[in-house]
Amino acid sequence: MAIARLHPGLSRPPAPTGGVVPPSHDITDRLVAQLQQTPNPRLREVMIALARHLHQFAIEIELTPQEWEVGIEFLTATGQLSNADRQEFILLSDVLGLSSLVEQIDDRDRRSTESTVLGPFYREHSPRRQAGATIFERPSGTPTRYSGRVLDLDGDPIAGATVDVWQNGADRLYAAQDPSAPPANLRGVFTTDDAGRYCFVGVRPVDYPVPTDGPVGTLLKATSRSEWRAAHIHAIVRADGYRPVTTHLFDDASDHLDSDVVFGVKDSLIKRFIRHETDEGYSVEHDFVLERLL
Ligand code: BEZ
Ligand code: FE
Repeated sequence: MAIARLHPGLSRPPAPTGGVVPPSHDITDRLVAQLQQTPNPRLREVMIALARHLHQFAIEIELTPQEWEVGIEFLTATGQLSNADRQEFILLSDVLGLSSLVEQIDDRDRRSTESTVLGPFYREHSPRRQAGATIFERPSGTPTRYSGRVLDLDGDPIAGATVDVWQNGADRLYAAQDPSAPPANLRGVFTTDDAGRYCFVGVRPVDYPVPTDGPVGTLLKATSRSEWRAAHIHAIVRADGYRPVTTHLFDDASDHLDSDVVFGVKDSLIKRFIRHETDEGYSVEHDFVLERLL
């Protein structure tokens, strides 16, 4: 087996008749020794850990040349599908839980609102809208009033913070996915008042599948995994002098809170949507908390 040539831990039987047995190649140790010369200390640390884990992974599963080739083809297809509008590599990171794990590492020891993945459907420069305005520019689902405050860690209001929101409609599509939608549909930026308050009207979130027409979809299918995201609305909350937070609010009626394909659900972000009999809509309240930049 080819792998036996790559690592002395995988012994190779001696050559049968007088053949020359090649010297043992400890490829991992030799690569690590070369990487020790990397001038940037963080890059050195990252590359040495990568070399060790990657080689150990191949040894543990006894990766065959055929499997190696399938893996290369998968990564090639993932790269070929990635561009400014479609980032299949980030989707791969998302469904492997890596994006959420990186968020979790970054969030440890923080007391601000918990973060979640950005996702591929965020677009910069959403229109600034007046407090209380709708973010839908055509009928897009059941109207829902979102309101609350942006606070600092002491519970004091932050005036002039921005709440940049985006969501998909009842048809499960974001404006970024639907050429027939007004480009700013279900998107908007709101500024908090002196009491730190924000308010806007969007729609009730719906469960929806991540894009499955590429290699990541093929992988989800081959591993019998769900492609569904739990119903949510996205927000990036920013204020001068504070660390921005990229997050979601999840609907507690979603069927996928425990099986969100990108592992983005956090208890603190699950909200109850209250039905209003009078206007056949819903409302939800949430306070976002920011921490000061050091
Ligand atoms: C989203 O919530 O928009 C999303 C996040 C990760 C992957 C796909 C979609
Ligand atoms: Fe989303």
